[in-house]
Amino acid sequence: MQIKKASVILSSGMAVPPKVLTNYDLEKMVDTSDEWIIERTGIKERHILDNNEVISTYAIEASKEALKRAGLQAKDIDLIICATLTPDYLMPSLSILIQNGLGAVKAGAFDLSATCSGFLYALCIGDQFVRNNPERKILIVGAEALSRKTNWQDRTTCVLFGDGAGAVIMTGQENHDRGIIDFILGADGSNSHLLTLKGGGSAYFPLDEKLPPEEYYIRMQGREVFKIATRVMEKIALELLERNNLKPEDLDLIIPHQANLRIIEYLRERLNLPKEKFFVNIDRYGNTSAASIPIALYEAEKEGKLQRGNLLLMVAFGGGFTYAGVLMRW
Ligand code: UT7
Repeated sequence: MQIKKASVILSSGMAVPPKVLTNYDLEKMVDTSDEWIIERTGIKERHILDNNEVISTYAIEASKEALKRAGLQAKDIDLIICATLTPDYLMPSLSILIQNGLGAVKAGAFDLSATCSGFLYALCIGDQFVRNNPERKILIVGAEALSRKTNWQDRTTCVLFGDGAGAVIMTGQENHDRGIIDFILGADGSNSHLLTLKGGGSAYFPLDEKLPPEEYYIRMQGREVFKIATRVMEKIALELLERNNLKPEDLDLIIPHQANLRIIEYLRERLNLPKEKFFVNIDRYGNTSAASIPIALYEAEKEGKLQRGNLLLMVAFGGGFTYAGVLMRW
């Protein structure tokens, strides 16, 4: 199949902080166990920033690798979009730190806040940007420092999250046999109270006494979020397949947002596909929100599980709630 105006991913890169926090480390911090965490989430360890580190370091490192693998220089980039919920600062944005760190002198840059679906949202914006201007090159980054917004006394959330960054370079190509075929972006704020991070926004003054200290960290009613996540991920996947006259077995690989192995397994069972068709690395990184899909993309390609010409489906769901699906020929 030829895609008349295609947006293709040229390369990817990733970087995570070297510090690893295992389930055994967490056992010493809260009332939990390696067994519980593995059974309920599939996570064994996660990378987290050391106290003196910032996530922009890793966002820049991931971007440099993507540039190198695409054979491009920073000055070739026209736009930088960084999907993140946890930038170093609100101002300057993380995308600006990346722009400056790379020396991407002609690039526009902005951050995008769409929680765990952020990278796929950014990919869809990038798709629109290059389709009619195929010579343009975009750097799309997903980078998170969720450990900084984690309440390390709350066992219901602190076992879940990790830090890291992934990046891709996207460009346009006329009449191509690969690229983005279709996407879905969605949002539903009716249950937003189930997953929140209130402190740091403008509703409250800094360290406002009206806001309890725990509201400066991510709070989640996990069981309720789980139910919605499974339903929505299945819905997006089936809708994208159906409207493109595809069956689940036509897919070569599915890269789901890595929030919980049981959510991924549920989707796999609903699509009735073998384990090999799902890329999973949650055991090593935990939930890295907007960084989870670009990190997985990078690893899937490196491990030879994602190859040129493969039909790829990416699906994500996150706080807000936001959700997204992208169907593409790799
Ligand atoms: O990325 C954005 C979207 N996020 C998600 O999609 C995450 C969705 N939710 C989840 O992944 C799961 O709900 C969790 C992993 C967060 C929790 O798993 P669960 O199977 O839904 O557990 P639960 O919340 O129903 O809790 C079951 C029990 C409770 O004890 P009781 O009330 O049955 O006595 C919890 O207190 O497990 C207890 N529990 C823990 N025990 C040991 C909760 N957290 C822990 C823990 N260690 N870390």
